Amino acid sequence: MEQLESNFTCPWWLLFTFDNPMRKLVHNPNKILRPYVSTGNTVLDVGCGMGYFSLELARLVGPKGKVIAGDLQPQMLAGLKKRARAAGVQELIQPHLCLPTKIGVTEPVDMIFAFWMVHEVTNRKAFMQELFSMLKPDGILLIVEPIIHVTRKNFEAKLDLGFELGFIEVSHPQIALSRSVIFIK
Ligand SMILES: C[S@@+](CC[C@H](N)C(=O)[O-])C[C@H]1O[C@@H](n2cnc3c(N)ncnc32)[C@H](O)[C@@H]1O
Repeated sequence: MEQLESNFTCPWWLLFTFDNPMRKLVHNPNKILRPYVSTGNTVLDVGCGMGYFSLELARLVGPKGKVIAGDLQPQMLAGLKKRARAAGVQELIQPHLCLPTKIGVTEPVDMIFAFWMVHEVTNRKAFMQELFSMLKPDGILLIVEPIIHVTRKNFEAKLDLGFELGFIEVSHPQIALSRSVIFIK
């Protein structure tokens, strides 16, 4: 599994292996996100896939907030839009097509959420730098990585990248099947 640490992008058709109706039993979006998101926040869900977490982020930020949902794959964003419409939160979600080498969001954000995606990013240093620069002072970055693809050593390398950039490590929330960190800028 180690080779999946880079250059592997989860294809849209593979997403349904874990993003399916049973997923809530393992990853409850409200439980995972509620402690870190406030009403009125602008939040970036980077590598949002088909928006499993973006929908809950939209509910948490409410009508005065905004969710920027970014992904590399147009098929993921198409799925996200469909789900957002069905959930009635499409007005609060701004889909954003990322480039493989650049997220490309210029607006400052209060919180960034990166769930099971950083291990797919090729140039992680540039990626983390971009995250750092778009976060507002005191902004929160929550990174969650899958245990199956990311060893402790690889996860620690990501933490080191964060420290180099000036992120402050706050905690490691317990999330099933995952390694996680909360950084503050
Ligand atoms: C394993 S999926 C997780 C999707 C979503 N976070 C979830 O938990 O349902 C990883 C996602 O990250 C996206 N991705 C990978 N590298 C990316 C990058 N450099 N910028 C933006 N999205 C990226 C992929 O297209 C894919 O949708």
